[in-house]
Amino acid sequence: MRYLTAGESHGPALVATLEGLPAGLQVSSQDLVAELSRRRLGHGRSPRMAFEEDRVEVLGGVRHGVTLGSPVSVVIHNTEWPKWVDAMDPEPRDDLDEIRATGRGQRLTRPRPGHADLTAALKYGYDDVRDALERASARETAARVVVGTYAKRLLAEVGISVVSHVVNIGGEQVPDGAARPGPDDLDTVDASSVRCFDPDTDARMVARIDAAHADKDTLGGTIEVLAYGLPPGLGSHVHWDRKLDTRLAAACLSVQAMKGVEFGDGFDLASRPGSQAHDEIVREDDGTYRRLSDRAGGLEAGMSTGQPLRLRVAMKPISSLPQPLATVDLDTHQPAQAITQRSDACAVPRAGVVLESVVAFELADALLEKTGGDQVSEVRRNLDGYLSSLEGR
Ligand SMILES: Cc1cc2nc3c(=O)[nH]c(=O)nc-3n(C[C@H](O)[C@H](O)[C@H](O)COP(=O)(O)O)c2cc1C
Repeated sequence: MRYLTAGESHGPALVATLEGLPAGLQVSSQDLVAELSRRRLGHGRSPRMAFEEDRVEVLGGVRHGVTLGSPVSVVIHNTEWPKWVDAMDPEPRDDLDEIRATGRGQRLTRPRPGHADLTAALKYGYDDVRDALERASARETAARVVVGTYAKRLLAEVGISVVSHVVNIGGEQVPDGAARPGPDDLDTVDASSVRCFDPDTDARMVARIDAAHADKDTLGGTIEVLAYGLPPGLGSHVHWDRKLDTRLAAACLSVQAMKGVEFGDGFDLASRPGSQAHDEIVREDDGTYRRLSDRAGGLEAGMSTGQPLRLRVAMKPISSLPQPLATVDLDTHQPAQAITQRSDACAVPRAGVVLESVVAFELADALLEKTGGDQVSEVRRNLDGYLSSLEGR
């Protein structure tokens, strides 16, 4: 499978096109809207943003709520477009000087540190930083969530589920050994305003975000993504770009503001002796193989082992600070304060939903590589055939 997204944050719409999805999956616009609404909430959001509605329109690849096997194309309309039509009009305009003089169309010349603003302006020759920030904005992640909704539905057909939860916000950490959400715990995680599964840490995270907000500051954090029900052997050891960990890491790092990925015990493994770093293998009476621990996070040599997948992703604090950082004005070349954009104090809770989506896409892609199949029933049959072939091995 492959996908492309297009669209600017305040343009008329975002578009996602997903190719390679099998026929026979039931996904309605309502399913897309429900998943998109999970991406909007979370403590630390500016209230106005939390209430923004997403309006989706499926343009192709689906008939009567069932995928056809043809490319799926979905538009996510910008409900605020009427306010932005002059500033972001894709058509040539005679009144450009007027548009750029005031209001939303006014040129932005004070790039924000930690954003695409300065480097993209230099690289693409923009004289208005808006040309950079519109596409670099994490609004694009709405299109990823649409793609992820289809991927999750395919995975669900073969009993695979993807769950994320927040394990750290601004240094407020879930303690080692705390319970992790299982495959059916997503609603419990979503019920927490910081999407934290540990109730004690939840309250401390909320307090930390409130304190950052009061200080006019922002916070990052760490998100854990888990996948249950994976068969052994998704991905491959035979070539670098077929390794599942390569692909998952790239996908996670492609999400705006993600700065690090670890699988299983990850960076901690570097400080341990080998005797405490791997997962020893036993064979059960029923002929299945089992690991005695979960240090590798369900991946060995670029392949799923059949254990739950476990990875963590570090997100940096939001770079649009209410108290702007120092920068340089691109017109005057004088020191200045960075532009302020409407922004959250902490986007870690909702970033988890985006990470679920990109992880789901990579897992669905790896699943289809293993099973092939143009229709869902064929995917299921081929997977069952493969799993049966493992019996007695
Ligand atoms: C879900 C989500 C929401 C985000 N919200 C904001 C925001 O409100 N303000 C902001 O400045 N950055 C926000 N970001 C982060 C920026 O998009 C990101 O830092 C920026 O594009 C630079 O990319 P880089 O950090 O990957 O280098 C958000 C990221 C995600 C994943």
